[in-house]
Amino acid sequence: MKILSIETSCDETAISIVDTDGKEFKVLGNSLLSQIDLHKEYGGVFPTLAKREHSRNLIPVLKQVLEKAGFENSKLQTTNDKIKEILNREPELLEQFLKFIPTIQTPDIDAIAVTQGPGLEPALWVGINFAKALSVAWKKPIIPVNHMEGHIFSALLKEDGKDSKFYIQNLKFPILALLISGGHTQLVLSKKFLEYEIIGETLDDAVGEAFDKTARMLGLPYPGGPEISKLAEKVGHVTSDFKFPRPMLRSNTCDFSFSGLKTSVLYTLKKIPELTTEIKQKVAKEFEDAVIEVLLSKTKKALKEHGAQTLVIGGGVSANKRIKKAFEEMLKNEFSETILHTPFIKLSTDNAIMIAVAGYFRFVQNKKQNLELKADGNLSL
Ligand code: KG4
Ligand code: ZN
Repeated sequence: MKILSIETSCDETAISIVDTDGKEFKVLGNSLLSQIDLHKEYGGVFPTLAKREHSRNLIPVLKQVLEKAGFENSKLQTTNDKIKEILNREPELLEQFLKFIPTIQTPDIDAIAVTQGPGLEPALWVGINFAKALSVAWKKPIIPVNHMEGHIFSALLKEDGKDSKFYIQNLKFPILALLISGGHTQLVLSKKFLEYEIIGETLDDAVGEAFDKTARMLGLPYPGGPEISKLAEKVGHVTSDFKFPRPMLRSNTCDFSFSGLKTSVLYTLKKIPELTTEIKQKVAKEFEDAVIEVLLSKTKKALKEHGAQTLVIGGGVSANKRIKKAFEEMLKNEFSETILHTPFIKLSTDNAIMIAVAGYFRFVQNKKQNLELKADGNLSL
């Protein structure tokens, strides 16, 4: 079946069309428009700006995807008042929708998957209303998708020769997933396919958020994760110039806390009169070392307690090379039987392919259509 997927939970407007028989996932079209340059000015994602940009960009992104997928743009089709009602809070999207959608043939897709949450609610709503309007125009069912489940699937996708074809290997349960993104830090246990239990999470900031805030203190642009990792990679040797705390390392739970780490960086930087590149590199390195130590320690605890056969690391922060390497080494030395899955760089941050894949499995599991779909910024796995 062919799934058109929509992702608008944060600052990327992403759409893809994926064709799958449940074994192979062939990406027929994939397009992503990042708003990073706009949000840079604010040092983070500004929700109403994100909403406006999604509203503006969804139709152009859809056009690109349809073109890439080779869907013919010709026949006329009628739309109705229902679409005006669905998109009445998105006037710019409505205008573009009515100009474009009636001019094309209904594409050869079977369902529309859309991110329901978690994420920024105003941003999520645009994607959901767009999915609803397309669903009415094309008479296709909607599949709501949990963004974090998308990140789990993105780590499980293996490339099949060419980069537009993916497959998922046989999975060994229980699976432990460490989800590290801009909004979340969670340890999730899955004993059965599509069933999850959160066994640990951050009590305050998410890891990505700590990266972004620390980067800001160092005068680096948003998003801070890639900036910090670039600086940290420059420091080859061990330095003891800075020492930041490893929050909750000794606690008896699998929960995390990163706000103390961020505050410690802030106080340290306050005492430094001039931030040279060398100091920034050392701070970035020590910050990453602290993050890595905590992530490793909590994940090890969870692996031991639950006897996980598979470890999945997903979410934007999983793009970090040092973090990935630290986990590879830890598994090799201490859990050699455990299989590690991490996403390809291009699938580690937000994208629509992961939403199509998660959407496919949810559709197979539950074909019920949900017309009353609502955005849920705090949607849990
Ligand atoms: O999953 P994602 O794209 O969006 C959310 O769902 O939040 O994750 C974005 C986060 C940002 O905080 C960004 O700074 C972080 O992922 N990130 C990284 C790296 N690349 C992106 N953090 C550390 N190292 C990286 N290389
Ligand atoms: Zn994400």
